[in-house]
Amino acid sequence: MSTQSRYVLPVGEMGWALDAPVRTEFTWEYDQGRSDLLALYEKGKRQQWNAVDRIDWEQDLDPENPMALPDELISLYGSALWNRLSPRQIRDLRRYLQALQISQFMHGEQGALICAAKIVQEVQGIDAKFYAATQVVDEARHVEAYARLLHDKFDIVFPINPQLRSLIGDVIERREWDFTYLGMQVVIEGLALAAFQGIRDHAQNRLAAQVNAYVMQDEARHVAFGRLALRDYYPQLSETERDRREEFLIEACYLMRDRLQPFFAWEAAGLDIKECLEVHEASVAALKFRARLFSRIVPTVRDIGLWGTRVRKAFEDLGAIQFADRDSAAMLEEDNRVAEEHDAKNMIEKAVSELAAKPN
Ligand SMILES: [Fe+2]
Ligand SMILES: [Fe+2]
Repeated sequence: MSTQSRYVLPVGEMGWALDAPVRTEFTWEYDQGRSDLLALYEKGKRQQWNAVDRIDWEQDLDPENPMALPDELISLYGSALWNRLSPRQIRDLRRYLQALQISQFMHGEQGALICAAKIVQEVQGIDAKFYAATQVVDEARHVEAYARLLHDKFDIVFPINPQLRSLIGDVIERREWDFTYLGMQVVIEGLALAAFQGIRDHAQNRLAAQVNAYVMQDEARHVAFGRLALRDYYPQLSETERDRREEFLIEACYLMRDRLQPFFAWEAAGLDIKECLEVHEASVAALKFRARLFSRIVPTVRDIGLWGTRVRKAFEDLGAIQFADRDSAAMLEEDNRVAEEHDAKNMIEKAVSELAAKPN
């Protein structure tokens, strides 16, 4: 069955075409590479995987609470509004909220796929082209995995959030290559990493936890790539040029913070949007979620040197400045470790079920 028939809310056109000017760079120097970028390329090649067989698609989601996430993570939980809902409405709301989040991951991953391809085209060195080519395959796999989770397991899909679409459009339309990195590798992927982590670490459903753990293992490399490329480049820019990047960054962060209200899920559940928004805005769950979303972006932004007064002020205002001292390399290492832990668990489960199936 098509995605079109699974959309819960009207989606309008089934596609989106952008006429953006992209600069195409060829290089005739094939033997020049920065060792750190080439090492990342090697890692990217070694860590390729197939979503068809690394993930155990036999597992199902729970009809009551698909990814088995704690209700405490829902901003409406415990409010007077929540207490008025029937068990059926609560079940619907859980399903819509979770499908909404996975749908945004899927659409965002398509944005990442297109941006990675754009980086292959517009970046100058062969080392970065090589690495970005591995990322193109990674992002295709992420779209595939989230689309399968939605189609086969949730059986519903939400349209792309307008703010996410607007940021992706803005990134694609910029002519300078570093905006693609900054917008996609640092901001959108940084936010995505934090959101994936929320599911990976809280979902009691193994399928949901697994998909996010494996995607995160790849994303950790992508963020590392953005960091390496920009850390070398930004110190070479003039103050005015750096200011433009900082402005873009701040605007993107605020836009993304405002994207977080799950309007579509409330609408699909037939709830009063205004009342939901009031409860949402006052909830501790939403506050914590928002601050945590920037946990991956802040240390990266500091590393790449876009750390002017305005940027620091914005992160203070967003309630995320405390993440500045986090060791982003260590967090990325940890993502790798958790994914490997899931592989080990899978191996054990497989061995146990094979043993159980053996006749005595
Ligand atoms: Fe991705
Ligand atoms: Fe990515």
